[in-house]
Amino acid sequence: MTNNSDTSGKVVDKKYFVKTYGCQMNVYDSERIGDALEAEGYVVTADMSEADLVLLNTCHIREKAAEKVYSDIGRIKKLKLAREEAGKTMTIGVTGCVAQAEGKEIIRRAPVVDLVAGPQTYHKLPTLVADAVAGKKTVETEFEIENKFTKMPVATRAQTRSRGVAAFLTVQEGCDKFCTFCVVPYTRGSETSRSVGQVIDEAERLAAAGVREITLLGQNVNAWHGLGPSNTEWGLGELLYKLAEVDGIERLRYMTSHPIDMDEGLIAAHGELASLMPYLHLPVQAGSDKILKAMNRHHTRDDYLYVIERMRAVRPDIAISGDFIVGFPGESEADFEETLDIIRQVGYASAFSFKYSPRPGTPGAGMDDQIPADVAGERLQRLQALLNQQQLDFNKNCLDSEMDVLLEKPGKREGQLIARSPYLQSVIVDRSVGSVGDIVRVKITEAAPNSLVGISA
Ligand code: 5AD
Ligand code: SF4
Repeated sequence: MTNNSDTSGKVVDKKYFVKTYGCQMNVYDSERIGDALEAEGYVVTADMSEADLVLLNTCHIREKAAEKVYSDIGRIKKLKLAREEAGKTMTIGVTGCVAQAEGKEIIRRAPVVDLVAGPQTYHKLPTLVADAVAGKKTVETEFEIENKFTKMPVATRAQTRSRGVAAFLTVQEGCDKFCTFCVVPYTRGSETSRSVGQVIDEAERLAAAGVREITLLGQNVNAWHGLGPSNTEWGLGELLYKLAEVDGIERLRYMTSHPIDMDEGLIAAHGELASLMPYLHLPVQAGSDKILKAMNRHHTRDDYLYVIERMRAVRPDIAISGDFIVGFPGESEADFEETLDIIRQVGYASAFSFKYSPRPGTPGAGMDDQIPADVAGERLQRLQALLNQQQLDFNKNCLDSEMDVLLEKPGKREGQLIARSPYLQSVIVDRSVGSVGDIVRVKITEAAPNSLVGISA
């Protein structure tokens, strides 16, 4: 036993710091990694230079995200050296999708890294971290048959510390769709769903910790399926009905969805379930059938528009959000115009858009007719100008309307609170309207591109 263990063998007085890159799945994973480390006796610190253990929970989706990790490691190395000069240590770990994709190559390129652990290995983190802290360079990127969730400790942090009033809950992980631009099927593995029991159990824990709004997460969240009571197969729609019954959970959302998995049950839930928020993140990526086919999206432009039409039939006010990639190999100016056109037809409340980034090992990276960066950059600017305008229009449309908002956290200015609208907009309100966790009715008095202002209605 070392000085840093108590009689149970647990770590004492050790601090950890997790930096999260990329998507909400990583935000959720970082929380669970925190739970696992705290169960071992680690305490979180907000100051990286104070940390005995620094974990970078990384993203591999685009080259920029992956390269950022290496430049950050360069900076963290200086902190590690400074600690070593002061007689302390710092163990550096890389988790997440860069860890999965690059494995031991990370330690070759950045020898200061002690630990590399892929997203399907987090249930083993306590042992992996202990090995790395003991000075053994540790790399674990195996996919195991069993679901990592069943092996990770339950969300202990939710019982002891507040996660805030809005939380993520991962219900599905991995992807079998193999879009030709995407690394996810390689880094997160094949599609797996968590069981109904596990999801409800975690939702109840979150509710008990004060959570009022849950966003279900998955790379392909609407492909979630599980066995319900009496062994019937449930889809995400049924799961949402069940979650709506959990005491204390007032609002539900889910992301990210694939158009071909928007089934009737899920669409109907949007018309019937009051706690299911009128917001849908449904990426189309591109508007031309030629590019959709090259991307292996399994749907056409019209299929997508038909889903939107059915969603609006059951929930006319629904806010539609999406992801777009410009400059996919073979994209002509006419193909790109079709993307602008589908954006005009749908009318997005918000969106994420990216320049295509060839990822090693994906079919897209080897395709002929790669688009020059300057052409893609110019297209991205035009696309974003349109999307920004649509977002502002959507927000302006809310002026003078009344809506129920969830008070989430203190605002930047004294006396303000930040609330969340049903359409996922940030709404700035005066503190006098209620307390964090309340859902209050407000009237919208101002609308800017990224936020609204509301007063008590
Ligand atoms: N290049 C650019 N954008 C990508 N995305 C996924 N892979 C790539 C890539 N290689 C985008 C897609 C996806 C979002 C999470 O990231 O739009 O929906
Ligand atoms: Fe990637 Fe396509 Fe799967 Fe989404 S559906 S995670 S874009 S492969």
